[in-house]
Amino acid sequence: MRRGAFLTIEGLEGAGKSSSIATISKVLKNKMIPYISTREPGGTELGEHVRDILLATSQEPMQPMTELLLMFASRAEHISRVINPHINSGDWVVCDRFIDSSFAYQGGGRGLNLSTIQDLERLSLPKTRPDHIFILDIPVEEGLKRAESRGERDRFEQEDIIFFERARKVFLDRSHGNPIYTVIDASNSEQQVQADIREHLETFIEHFKKTI
Ligand code: TYD
Repeated sequence: MRRGAFLTIEGLEGAGKSSSIATISKVLKNKMIPYISTREPGGTELGEHVRDILLATSQEPMQPMTELLLMFASRAEHISRVINPHINSGDWVVCDRFIDSSFAYQGGGRGLNLSTIQDLERLSLPKTRPDHIFILDIPVEEGLKRAESRGERDRFEQEDIIFFERARKVFLDRSHGNPIYTVIDASNSEQQVQADIREHLETFIEHFKKTI
């Protein structure tokens, strides 16, 4: 059985992940590629409970290490119960955020050591890595302005601009010189952004068909 590809979509708040995931879904459907769409934190019953804890605003601040471990707890469950079984059965998996968000938010944003996150990556996901990563890049203030219009802010959305500047830098640093990343300029018009995603995805699909 041919395995499916694992695609992740990353970016700051307000970068437009939802519309991009809709475009990716449409392309896969048109090409009759079987796929599932999922998200992190979350994607399993346990993971969705963990997500609620992570996003809830609370009087008691959460330790950055607790936050990191909860992200990885949700991820461990997600990988073994959803991502790997689907990929191994030939489905493609489209995931709204994955490990790059941990490097960007817990590493860049919260200031945890990137090497600590790498250690957890090695321990908890020995083999599962995305085949392709889309980073929707947007200037922080522009993204936050867009996110604001969505209503109540969760625990992350309440962070300041510096937090998101550091997160954005980590996303971009990780993508430099690594062909598994496509950085999309999400400050362009909606139409342009979706056209860029379609074009890069179609190129990836052709490439993936030849390698597997
Ligand atoms: P998201 O689904 O993008 O939230 P929304 O639906 O409000 O756009 O992601 C939830 C939040 O979790 C987001 O602020 C980023 C954060 N996050 C991390 O900090 N680390 C991680 O590893 C992941 C997967 C998400």
